[in-house]
Amino acid sequence: MKNNIDMFPTGFKEILAETEQTGFNQLSDPLPGSLLSTLAATKPNGHFLELGTGSGLSTAWLLHGMDASSSLTSIDHDNELVSIAKRHLGHDPRVQLMVGAGEELILKTKPDSIDFIFADTWPGKYNHLEETLSLLKVGGMYLIDDMQAQDSWSDEHRDKANQLIQYLETRDDLLLTKLSWSTGIIICTKILSPAT
Ligand SMILES: C[S@@+](CC[C@H](N)C(=O)[O-])C[C@H]1O[C@@H](n2cnc3c(N)ncnc32)[C@H](O)[C@@H]1O
Repeated sequence: MKNNIDMFPTGFKEILAETEQTGFNQLSDPLPGSLLSTLAATKPNGHFLELGTGSGLSTAWLLHGMDASSSLTSIDHDNELVSIAKRHLGHDPRVQLMVGAGEELILKTKPDSIDFIFADTWPGKYNHLEETLSLLKVGGMYLIDDMQAQDSWSDEHRDKANQLIQYLETRDDLLLTKLSWSTGIIICTKILSPAT
């Protein structure tokens, strides 16, 4: 079986072409994008949160999997990148594309209200993690990528990533799967903590 993708969501190719002009080099990989669509489709009428919109590539994948009554809030602090996402995805009434600090959105969002979180930036992954996980409903999913160690990583980043994995593993209210695939994916589903 080949890891190839032959279908790209609405807006994806246009966003990619425009983003390449900007020199932005943290573009998401298409493989986790395809996984995002597949998992998004398991949450009909779902509330989705994306931390780190970038120019909207992963946003396009999420929207592709979401049903018509689902909604997605996505935030990034880079106005230029979010403008690209707005140009190509902003017509979709299911998505709210915000420019701002992910930390503030996390703190403003009601706990126990989100069905699916894609955390693709510092807040929600390397900071404000506990607050982010508290936003998930029971049955809700939390997904992160870029977890496979890279030669280019600093020792500091390697330690941070290891600490993040260890922390997620200690939570008794998360069922976790680590996939050594694509950039290294971790998927967690929130369950009732045995203590509750
Ligand atoms: C890995 S990139 C996101 C890639 C994007 N998901 C995609 O599909 O191409 C991380 C993004 O986080 C944004 N970012 C970094 N710190 C942030 C913060 N504190 N709040 C909001 N966005 C932030 C950056 O501007 C960058 O676009």
